[in-house]
Amino acid sequence: MKQTPILVLDFGSQYTQLIARRLRETHIYCEIVPFSEPIDAIKARSPQGIVLSGGPASVYADDAYMIDQKILEMGIPVLGICYGMQLIAHLLGGEVRQSSAHEYGKAEITIEVSSPLFSGLDAAQTVWMSHADQVARLPVGFKRIAFSDNSANAAIADEENRIYALQFHPEVAHTKRGAQILGNFATEICRISPDWSMRSFAQRQIEEISQVTAGKKVLCALSGGVDSSVVAALLYKAIGDRLIPVFVDNGLLRQNEATKVQEIFAEHLNASLITVDASEIFLTRLTGVRDPEAKRKIIGHTFIEVFEQEAKKHQDIAFLAQGTLYPDVIESVSVKGPSKTIKSHHNVGGLPENMQFKLIEPLRELFKDEVRELGVELGLPEEMVHRHPFPGPGLAVRIMGEINHASLELLRRADAILLEELKKSGYYRKVWQAFCVLLNVRSVGVMGDNRTYENAVAIRAVESSDGMTASFAHLPHDLLELVSRRIINEVGGINRVVYDISSKPPATIEWE
Ligand code: XMP
Repeated sequence: MKQTPILVLDFGSQYTQLIARRLRETHIYCEIVPFSEPIDAIKARSPQGIVLSGGPASVYADDAYMIDQKILEMGIPVLGICYGMQLIAHLLGGEVRQSSAHEYGKAEITIEVSSPLFSGLDAAQTVWMSHADQVARLPVGFKRIAFSDNSANAAIADEENRIYALQFHPEVAHTKRGAQILGNFATEICRISPDWSMRSFAQRQIEEISQVTAGKKVLCALSGGVDSSVVAALLYKAIGDRLIPVFVDNGLLRQNEATKVQEIFAEHLNASLITVDASEIFLTRLTGVRDPEAKRKIIGHTFIEVFEQEAKKHQDIAFLAQGTLYPDVIESVSVKGPSKTIKSHHNVGGLPENMQFKLIEPLRELFKDEVRELGVELGLPEEMVHRHPFPGPGLAVRIMGEINHASLELLRRADAILLEELKKSGYYRKVWQAFCVLLNVRSVGVMGDNRTYENAVAIRAVESSDGMTASFAHLPHDLLELVSRRIINEVGGINRVVYDISSKPPATIEWE
């Protein structure tokens, strides 16, 4: 098991991922695991510091998330945040009470005792609070190091055992010097040198891949998206022509996508791309299927099957490389942890158990924007690095209900118009992701003097930093009007265009 400098135990706070991001931004590498990670598994990663995240529960609730108290006794520095703080107090003999005044939002704290945690900070700090419970009595050995009007114990510390706890959330942007506080914990208290960078990450991955694959060949699934292209570039650097890059045309791609992928690949990566046209197998298996999860599973399984067949044509293939990202991993594994699986991700949940390859997923520790940074580091072109994310199940999850050639064609044509206008207006780079959804809802219209009764398309455009949360993009009305007019005039069979104005949560980005 490789060493992880800082391990974040997740108690289900909506901000847990931000802890990881803030730490990585300060060049400290860390990973998130569910709060229930066994102590032996924690020890096996030899962390130099542990962070206990916030969480929605109260430590006194019957089903409160608990940890083995021995985690606090390993001699490794610990930082508890909000619920994490209350848990530390509860486990070590302090007292947690419901506050008379709940504290949500901005608060001013005063740092009253100098502590390495607050190194370089002024005494008065603006922070973000979000709690109902608070620590009323400190455990033995702890002292208060900061307070606010509503939180007598805004920050506490047992300096001797290097256990620190904050009532506020240093990871959210509203806590002005929050990144510095997290960085201080890592550098001043855990004594980790802040030397994690994309360059060092790339080098480490290249070495690891070349060691792990030990002369064997690796099949790499290319979708043409950022993630799989970055994986291919990384693998090519590590193992050269032992990389067998395969692009499966599943028939669920955007207009001209297959050709574009081949062109970009030929131009920027030296390995020769194998294209498999499996569209008919996918479409046949999807006939009559309307349920979103069923679609996702069928596509995931078929994908691997096609790959296995392709692999049989080559000798010595032992590995399959995939562009699984950190949010995919967290959303899928966290069934064990506090949050629930929302969708089976194509590249994680759908894998059959009897798969014949070992998996290589070099991006499984990265967020999307970090993958883009890695792409740049590896010399990939802007055009590829800044492509919008495209889901593994492709247009299948953008056509409500059944998929067939006709509905795919309608969606492709509408979607191509949207992308063309977004690129022309400069909005393609301003939004995280934009696409059309074919609603399979018909409505009445009038064209010329005739009644129409045809399909509706929804435009989805969102702003996001990692796809975990998103808000609908405020595209200019003029642009929306132009796109709508062009779709209705140019795509026969569509007479209505609507704009999706929901955010994630509660909606998701894709419709299925
Ligand atoms: P949702 O719809 O869950 O999507 O809000 C979040 C982000 O993930 C993309 N997405 C996928 N990516 N395989 C992928 O590689 C999938 O199965 C998948 N499903 C959704 C989606 O496009 C958005 O960027």
